[in-house]
Amino acid sequence: MLGIIGGSGLTQLANLDVAHREVVRTPYGEPSGPLSFGRIGAQDVVFVARHGYGHTIPPHLVNYRANIHALESSGVTRIISVASVGGIRSDLGPGVLVVPHQIIDYTWGREMTFQSGGDGPVVHVDFTEPYDAAVRTLLLDACRRIGEDVTDGAVYAATQGPRLETAAEIDRLQRDGADLVGMTGMPEAALARELGLPYAALCLVANWAAGRADSAHGISFDDLEAVLHPAMARVRRIIEGVCGE
Ligand code: HPA
Repeated sequence: MLGIIGGSGLTQLANLDVAHREVVRTPYGEPSGPLSFGRIGAQDVVFVARHGYGHTIPPHLVNYRANIHALESSGVTRIISVASVGGIRSDLGPGVLVVPHQIIDYTWGREMTFQSGGDGPVVHVDFTEPYDAAVRTLLLDACRRIGEDVTDGAVYAATQGPRLETAAEIDRLQRDGADLVGMTGMPEAALARELGLPYAALCLVANWAAGRADSAHGISFDDLEAVLHPAMARVRRIIEGVCGE
């Protein structure tokens, strides 16, 4: 079964034929909302809105552990994460879709592991390649089949939020090698890896990162909304493409 975690702008999947919704409890507390179980085409899908269905949970307060655990305990065997990001690299402007291949984690103070100590030997999961190659390929192939331009590979910087970055912070992220910036990519990806769940992200560039291009002197939320809404229709088609294979 395919798990989909929807981010800003994707609190619902219009093309998901919902059979039922379920409040799933976990040892880590409650997920961001009830899980929606249904089908897209021939594929069984479970959807959860990362920020809650009314977009009320900020990035640093998302219960990432509960979301990932709830998906796993519901029978999910692979996860697609949808996230909006800021573009740092000059070819990654608003409206561009990206399937990143690497992550740098700048978040702090989040519950970022299922290992709480005391219950068995410590396990260090391999995270050299943070995204699953097969799930990345599913996304990239679906984009190609339906004729959506997509950028294959980028370094995702996960920042703490909820505020946006300063221009100097973005300069620093770029010096570190980051191409995109978002607030929710971690610890989500690492938690999926800890549970052995193949995971990849489909990122939509919603705005130029702070200090870049149109955002040289600030980020316009009106512009950002204007990019998000039409783009999410494209994201839904890509997910349909993944499911229709
Ligand atoms: N920075 C961090 N997270 C984001 C941005 C940004 O510019 N845009 C969308 N998510």
